[in-house]
Amino acid sequence: MRVLVIGSGAREHALLLALAGDPQVTALAAAPGNAGTAAIAEHPGLADATDPELVVALAQRWRADLVVVGPEAPLVAGVGDALRAAGIACFGPSAAAARIEGSKAFAKDVMTAAGVPTARSEAVRDLADLDRALDRFDPPYVVKDDGLAAGKGVLVTPDRDDARRHAAAVLDAGHPVLLESFLDGPEASLFCVVDGTTVVPLVPAQDFKRLGDDDAGPNTGGMGAYAPLPWAPEGLVDDVVDRIIAPVVTELAARGTPFSGLLYAGLALTSSGPQVIEFNCRFGDPETQPVLALLRSSAASLLAAAADGRLAQELPPTWAPGAAVTVVVAAEGYPGAVRTGDVLRGADGHGVLHAGTRRRDDGAVVSSGGRVLSVVGTGDDLEDARRDAYDRLATVDLPGGQYRTDIARDAAAGRVAVPVS
Ligand code: AMP
Ligand code: GLY
Repeated sequence: MRVLVIGSGAREHALLLALAGDPQVTALAAAPGNAGTAAIAEHPGLADATDPELVVALAQRWRADLVVVGPEAPLVAGVGDALRAAGIACFGPSAAAARIEGSKAFAKDVMTAAGVPTARSEAVRDLADLDRALDRFDPPYVVKDDGLAAGKGVLVTPDRDDARRHAAAVLDAGHPVLLESFLDGPEASLFCVVDGTTVVPLVPAQDFKRLGDDDAGPNTGGMGAYAPLPWAPEGLVDDVVDRIIAPVVTELAARGTPFSGLLYAGLALTSSGPQVIEFNCRFGDPETQPVLALLRSSAASLLAAAADGRLAQELPPTWAPGAAVTVVVAAEGYPGAVRTGDVLRGADGHGVLHAGTRRRDDGAVVSSGGRVLSVVGTGDDLEDARRDAYDRLATVDLPGGQYRTDIARDAAAGRVAVPVS
């Protein structure tokens, strides 16, 4: 099987590594890829991953049997539709189904119709309605940008003035605002491979969205993750599939927009059970890195079965025992305007996944984006995996690089728990 992976982050590097070790894969390409993926995949070149015609032309030229789309933007732009229309198997949903991520209001509508537990929410389109809408919520306030913001358009704050200011800025930018009730409890990410009807859950993970240790600082795309969740209540995965994923998959199919690809539920595990924070229409970054580090069965076989609508015939995935931890290294300035062009050292080692990197003409690997790389550690348990990840991190040097020192710390120490009512 010739597999083309679209994207250039550490998530895509992790997907490529899983595929590279797969006996079913005969050739591998990444587009656009990064300095790290060049070691394991061809880089045929792609000027714009969100241009459906360009992606189809590349997939035809490179003779891809399967295209795996990493990021949401190409999916929202209709890359999946264009590939399927050209007769090319694609792992990733149609533009219509990708709206589960692309529009938070659409996601809420689907959840309401499917009876899925989630925060109470209100859309605000007009500055004049903002104060009255805020009155109907209690602190902490949750203010969201109803557009694609990769987790960065959200403000959670106890301060009403801050909430108001953020909402006004979002409205000013021409986007509707979504106000939500606050969901208490630890967060979890559950990835499910879906072929329109059949749902195959992967191991649950936890992401660290804030920039700094102990959840200080702004929201980011994600600064680290681990899997599985030693603190998860018994039966969590089956419960989330039954009460959340399956009803949403059924609802999307009933609307004539079946979901095929990776349905990612961002959950709050509250005292009254799992509730949805958001859905994404693709693998999460950085959770994909620890999840795939634990996958033992064939990634290619699983993704191809989803793309071809034959998941029901596929054996369930198998997992390594133990745990995996990923720590993200971000450039100076992230999540704001970042400095690029810093020379990265020690980034060729095992367990180092590249994201915002490129190889300069003189051969040096330099930073080229916000999240520059991820290290992945594995071990018998979270403490072991955490040590392994930070040991690898110690061999990498990025001037001005920022990373959290507390990824998986509390979970390894048994200090994470679902609140009891
Ligand atoms: P989102 O872009 O919807 O994924 O939100 C980003 C982050 O904001 C989430 O990972 C949570 O940490 C936080 N968040 C979003 N919605 C809520 C909510 N209703 N209650 C509590 N925290 C939330
Ligand atoms: N890990 C968060 C995301 O991928 O959106």
